[in-house]
Amino acid sequence: MRRLLFLGLICVLATPLVHARAIPNPNQHHAPGNESPQTPIAQANYSVGVNYQLQCAGCHLGDGTGSAANDTPRMKGFVGNFLKVPGGREFLVRVPGMSQSALNNAQLADLLNWLMREDGMAGASMPEHYQPYTAEEITALRATTMLNLPGTRAGLIKEMRAQGIAIDDGMNY
Ligand code: HEC
Repeated sequence: MRRLLFLGLICVLATPLVHARAIPNPNQHHAPGNESPQTPIAQANYSVGVNYQLQCAGCHLGDGTGSAANDTPRMKGFVGNFLKVPGGREFLVRVPGMSQSALNNAQLADLLNWLMREDGMAGASMPEHYQPYTAEEITALRATTMLNLPGTRAGLIKEMRAQGIAIDDGMNY
């Protein structure tokens, strides 16, 4: 019994030492080749596709399918329809995922123009005459916050319905 107590005491006393070993060494250095600090994405000059993967795909998925369970609409084959209704062009820039992303205005313009391609995510939903976004346009639109996103979106969807556009956004309503 005494031996057991003694063993228990040793374990209790040794615990802090074990924990201490798990604390990182404060004098630790970067791994070789990994010394430079991380470059912010707005300055990193990644390709548009990489920017999409890093900033958007977490919610919208790699191909823009979205996820109804997470309230994320489908962009694939649908997102171009917003350009066919008044206010839609502005809406696309002001959704939080866009306007609050870590990308700069020029990167965001490139990203939108990349999404809005017939051979891209928008696909067949593209309007007939597409006017590419510019960095200046993004700068101006981004500065105005959209106060009522669900209301704004519902209005745009209603306009689409009035034009006979099928609402294939993957959402269940
Ligand atoms: C944290 C999750 C998340 C991230 C990250 C995100 N989004 Fe979104 N996005 C959403 C959700 C949810 C909606 C639906 C509207 C809302 O609630 O904001 C949405 C709506 C949109 C819409 C409008 C589509 C529609 O049918 O209403 C576009 C366009 C869009 N996002 C593009 C992007 C782009 C481009 C990026 C990356 C720069 C991005 N989003 C990043 C979650 C996200």
